[in-house]
Order: sequence, then C-alpha cells, then structure tokens
Amino acid sequence: MLAQTLTLTDFRNVERAGVELAPRLTFLVGDNAQGKTNALEALAYALTLKPLRPARLGDLVRRGASTAVVDVSLTGPALPWQIHVEVEAGGRQVLVNGKLLRDPANLLGAVALVAFTPDDLALVKGAPELRRRSLDRFVFQVQPGHLRHARDYQRALRARNLLLRRLDRDRRSLDAFGEMLAIAGARLMAGRHLGISLLRPALTRRHRQLAPDGGELTIDYRPALAGEEAAAGLDESAASERLRQALQEALPLDLARRQTCRGPHLDDVELALDGVPTRRFASQGQSRSIVLALRLAEADELRRARGEGPLLLADDLLAELDDGRASALLTTLDAIGARVVATGTRLPPGLSAATAGCAIYSVRAGRLSRAN
Ligand SMILES: Nc1ncnc2c1ncn2[C@@H]1O[C@H](COP(=O)(O)OP(=O)(O)OP(=O)(O)O)[C@@H](O)[C@H]1O
Ligand SMILES: [Mg+2]
Repeated sequence: MLAQTLTLTDFRNVERAGVELAPRLTFLVGDNAQGKTNALEALAYALTLKPLRPARLGDLVRRGASTAVVDVSLTGPALPWQIHVEVEAGGRQVLVNGKLLRDPANLLGAVALVAFTPDDLALVKGAPELRRRSLDRFVFQVQPGHLRHARDYQRALRARNLLLRRLDRDRRSLDAFGEMLAIAGARLMAGRHLGISLLRPALTRRHRQLAPDGGELTIDYRPALAGEEAAAGLDESAASERLRQALQEALPLDLARRQTCRGPHLDDVELALDGVPTRRFASQGQSRSIVLALRLAEADELRRARGEGPLLLADDLLAELDDGRASALLTTLDAIGARVVATGTRLPPGLSAATAGCAIYSVRAGRLSRAN
C-alpha cells in the first residue's frame, strides 16, 4: 500500500500540520530544531508504532497538550486505510478504518518501510543488538511470521531469565521455557539466515555504486551458537535440536549467571570491508556509505518481494554528502521506485518547486508550509 497523506496534531513541536506525500519525493526543508525530524517521526510512528528516536510516549505529546494525534491515509489495490493514532503519556490507541487495532502485527506489514536516520550510523560500530533489530525489522517485512517468532522467543527468554533470577529454580518450568526457546529460536535464526541471504548481493552492489573506491562491503550472519554457521542449512527441527542441546550444556552457567547465556538473542551481524570487520575501523564517511548501502539494499529487496517500491524515510538525507553524491543518491532512489520522504537543512541539488512528482515543505517553528 502507498502512504498518501499525513496529518499531525500536537505531535512534538507541531500543533497542527498536513502533508500530501508526493509520488517520488517529499522534502521537508528548514533550519535546525524546527520540527523536520518530528514530522518524519510522526509518519514513522503511525506506520510502525515505534518512534524514530528513543523516546517515552509522553515525549511525543506537544508540551502543554494532553494528546498527540497522527492520521495517515494509505491506498492500495484493496480498500484504502485510514490509520489514526492517539498518544498520551499513559498509553496509545490505534484505529484502522475506525476499528480498534488489537494486534500491531496487522499494521506493521501494511507499508513496506525503510528508515534511515543519523542514529543508524551506530549500526556500524555499536552494539550487536542494533544490528539484530535492524535485520529483524527487514525480515518482518518479507516474512510476516518472523515478527511472531521474535516475540515468542523474547517472551520465553524473559520468563526463563526471571526464573533464573528467582531463588526457586523449578527445573520443570526451566525446561518448558527452554523448549519454547528452542522452537522459536530455530525459526528466528532461519528468518535471519533468509534476510542475510537476500541482502548480501544487493548490499555489495549498492555499496560499490555509492563508494566505487571504497572496497567490497559484505554482510554475514554471526549466530551466537557455536557451530551454528555450519548449521545454516539445517532444517527447522534439527536447528531446534541444536538449540535444545546448547541450552542443556549451558544450564550450569545459566544458573550461576542467572540468565540465559546461549541463543539467538546474542546473535550478531557482521559488516566487513574487504574482509575486515567495519566495527573496528570504519570512518564517519565510510559508516555513512555502509548504512546507506544497507538501506538501499533493503529497499531493493522489499521491492522485489512485495512488487512495489517501499516508503523510504530519510532523516537528514544529505548530511555530509557533496552535491555530486547527493544527486547520485537521488537518482538511485528514483530507480528503486521508492517513495521518499526526506528532511534536510538545504534542498538537494536539482530539486526545485517545478520538479515533477516532488513536494517541498518548509518547516519553521513547528509549522509546515507547502513551497510548491
Ligand atoms: N513534546 C514536545 N513538545 C514541544 N516541543 C518539542 C517536543 N519534543 C521535541 N520538541 C522540540 O522540537 C524541536 C526539534 O525538532 P526536530 O528534532 O524535528 O528538529 P529538526 O528540524 O529535525 O532539526 P535538525 O535540523 O537539527 O535535525 C526542538 O526544539 C525540541 O525541543
Ligand atoms: Mg532533525
């Protein structure tokens, strides 16, 4: 489905604003601290129910107001959707076509979405958790069941860890949660294998385009379970058997450390340039090309899997890019067929009020006005 319009009420510093999303590029331009990222975040929030930046619910509500509201309309081959999200400090409510949404999973797959934010640079050098989350978010969108497996795994993990922390360590319950981990964990790992195998060729190709002299970028799944690399080709029951065994072996360690020490909650994804892990040496500029290549690869594969270009949200799209690289990037986005909503403190080179398929909004003190 395609996102068509966005309306914000009392969201962050925006009292009220409406944005018509253009077929190719909607660009929000303005000085620092005016509300560009806030507007982008509202759109991301309505589609994923996660803020773009770490935040408490109350942070999303305009200071002095009690409820933030975001409305997004979607069109597609079937019925149009109206997403209506209300956020208060104490909770949120989502209505789709006027009906209360009970399972967020029903919303998450509606629009293929790729988001690129300056915080994503941390993917290159930061904690494995960031890379796991990024990969899982991509896999959810090509294989909706992955979301359920990830949640089942997290739930069993929390329960087992809780039990390990308590003094009464009932073996039977530990085994029961271990069994749930083995089943959901094998599915989680299978999804991650799939995601990496989809991304690998596209990532290398996209990176070569963005940074022709930048070395060969590769991505690999690094499961936490020793020997699991060899197990990549295992079927699901063999993979759960591997996990079951690993949990058994690690039980004394788990009891001593009072937490589950083996399993895919410790997986990593390795990015490497010419075979050397980027975690150890990537420069700021290299990190940027790496993350952009990753998001472009996701967009490529989402387009292939779903038959329509994804919505690409790019916060501060052109930061640190010179004009040549910036226009090359825009040409690439056009070629992917992604519908882009981007922000920046200046307009991209070549973009003007007359450019077909584009909308420009200037953002000032929380007010958005259409410039073309
Ligand atoms: N809940 C809120 N109520 C009122 N103002 C808020 C709220 N949350 C954030 N703001 C304000 O919004 C402004 C920043 O908005 P935003 O992050 O969208 O800036 P930006 O235009 O993207 O700037 P930059 O170019 O620096 O990234 C800040 O001044 C911040 O204090
Ligand atoms: Mg910003």
